[in-house]
Amino acid sequence: MACRQPVQAAIAASLIVVCGAAVAQMSPDWGKREFESYCATCHGLGGTGDGPLSRGYLSKAPSNLAVLAKQNGGVLPVSRLYASIEGTTAVGPHGTRDMPVWGTRYRVRAAEHYVDVGYNSEAYVRVRVLALIDYIDRLQQR
Ligand code: HEC
Repeated sequence: MACRQPVQAAIAASLIVVCGAAVAQMSPDWGKREFESYCATCHGLGGTGDGPLSRGYLSKAPSNLAVLAKQNGGVLPVSRLYASIEGTTAVGPHGTRDMPVWGTRYRVRAAEHYVDVGYNSEAYVRVRVLALIDYIDRLQQR
């Protein structure tokens, strides 16, 4: 029995490595998915402001989100970004805080505070916003 334990431990360890790699490969890039679904129509897939709606449909040009760090001494202005996504800082073309262009995606719906939705909805929304910001960080032209 005692001599089988190291073998079992080795099998378990290699399973963890193999499964971990498989999960890492399968796991979607959440931030990319968020950006492409909710921001790219205006800001473009690369974040430079050249999305399809920028071609004549908006009275203001979408900001180039790929130079946010460059314009801020090389550091991504995370709090400013967070505030504009969460809606505490108003960005006109994004709509109002109550009716942003991305709907309720980055906000905890009021009802969820009272109904047991089976998960921590505030943490869920926060992770979604942070994944998006992480992707915007990866779009930065350094
Ligand atoms: C309907 C088009 C549209 C969509 C969709 C949109 N934006 Fe914008 N966004 C704009 C426009 C236009 C501006 C420029 C506003 C201005 O110049 O006053 C802007 C400005 C910004 C700014 C301000 C940049 C700065 O200098 O602080 C940020 C940040 C931003 N958008 C992030 C996002 C993110 C993140 C998403 C997706 C969740 C998104 N936007 C979706 C049109 C859009």
